[in-house]
Amino acid sequence: MLSFDFTDLLAPHGPVSADRYAALGARATAAQQQFSAFAAEEGIRFTHLPLLDVSDIEAAAEGLRAEFDHLVVIGIGGSSLGGRALYQALSTPRGRKTERGGCKLWFLENVDGSDIEDLLDLLPLDRTAFNVITKSGTTIETMGSFFVVRERLLAAFGEEGYRARMVATTDPAAGELRKLVDREGLTSLPVPPGVGGRFSVLTAVGLLPLAAAGVDIRALLRGAAAARANALAPSDNVALDFARAHVALVEAGVTDLVFMPYAQVLSDTSLWFVQLWAESLGKQRPNGSRVGPTPIAAVGAVDQHSQLQLFMEGPANKTVCFVDAGPNSSLRVPAFGDACPPLAHLAGRTFDELRQAELRGVRAGLIEAGRGVSTITLPAVTAETMGALIFLLESATAMAGWMLGVEPFDQPGVEAGKRFAHGLLGQASYAGWAERAQAFESGDRKTSGF
Ligand code: PA5
Repeated sequence: MLSFDFTDLLAPHGPVSADRYAALGARATAAQQQFSAFAAEEGIRFTHLPLLDVSDIEAAAEGLRAEFDHLVVIGIGGSSLGGRALYQALSTPRGRKTERGGCKLWFLENVDGSDIEDLLDLLPLDRTAFNVITKSGTTIETMGSFFVVRERLLAAFGEEGYRARMVATTDPAAGELRKLVDREGLTSLPVPPGVGGRFSVLTAVGLLPLAAAGVDIRALLRGAAAARANALAPSDNVALDFARAHVALVEAGVTDLVFMPYAQVLSDTSLWFVQLWAESLGKQRPNGSRVGPTPIAAVGAVDQHSQLQLFMEGPANKTVCFVDAGPNSSLRVPAFGDACPPLAHLAGRTFDELRQAELRGVRAGLIEAGRGVSTITLPAVTAETMGALIFLLESATAMAGWMLGVEPFDQPGVEAGKRFAHGLLGQASYAGWAERAQAFESGDRKTSGF
């Protein structure tokens, strides 16, 4: 279903020496054992998700599909990126329809008033449902947009119509949104407390909108279950190989990981991966030292005409992980006679042949430039292979975190920003944070402009 080729990360082609790789053996074994112990813990962790019953989610999604043409997801970060990535991967590029058909999905993520107004003006409100997703229930971006939508729905359809069009996905017991859901009698689905935002795409967070859009979520979970079984294996463990190779790179000074699928429909998967890797691994260790493997989102072949120059000739601190997701159409460049003799070698070629040649060419160029490269290969982009890819990268991230000595599941840096913002907006318990932010903004400032 999926393979990972990391030959060219290791010497003689890549920057990781045999000694460095071998020296990581004991830490890798320990990380794998920690993963197995984690997967056996009581309660629901991300590792349990491929095995859970999803009938409730499917039933809720069926209700949405039967009544509505559009579903707007209101969420940000881990509460939107995974669903967005899988929707892009598993629906047709322009029409945004999945194989089974269903609601068209839209994502309201940012604190951008014009984007919110634009979307609400565009959609037929009577045929549109909304899924507010926030585990904490206090995220400014999400709750701000939610209150705008709530007001519009109440004005247009009254309380019953609002309730019929709004589904909440949040903590089953805690948080401000949970209290509101209970008070207002909204339909809701839980985010298991033991699953962090960026690891939550295989909970109702991702599965409800995806099922409403017609994605086969059981196939997604089947793929994830195959990746889970592999991540629990003591050998030939793809997630562990990915983690070990990238930890070896980081410790050799190759800190930046470019994630570069050669498929347009996986461009949002790059964004999802960037959040997963950055928020999980960019941390201060308990002893105060810092670690910062830095992910970079790219998409082939588009970034050959953009960031590739930097990857080839910039500092030797980057590695590129390609994703080769197989052919997705039989489209060919037609015969074009004498129209352009220097490009005659393109006539009759499939677009997949062009894609393959470009991928192989960039890989060869990077290896010649001394950059380490690796490739994840999927036979095709399907619900099953995407479930496997998602779970593989989540497991690899957790194992890399343990090998690097950081806690992969928290995000104290993100929390600080949220507290400053709540304080600046007047929340009394964060008044001290607001004062500190204001202190940075006062006094003599050096600015220029025109
Ligand atoms: O991975 C994470 O935990 C974060 O990116 C959160 O998903 C993000 O901050 C949104 O949080 P919430 O779901 O509480 O609104």
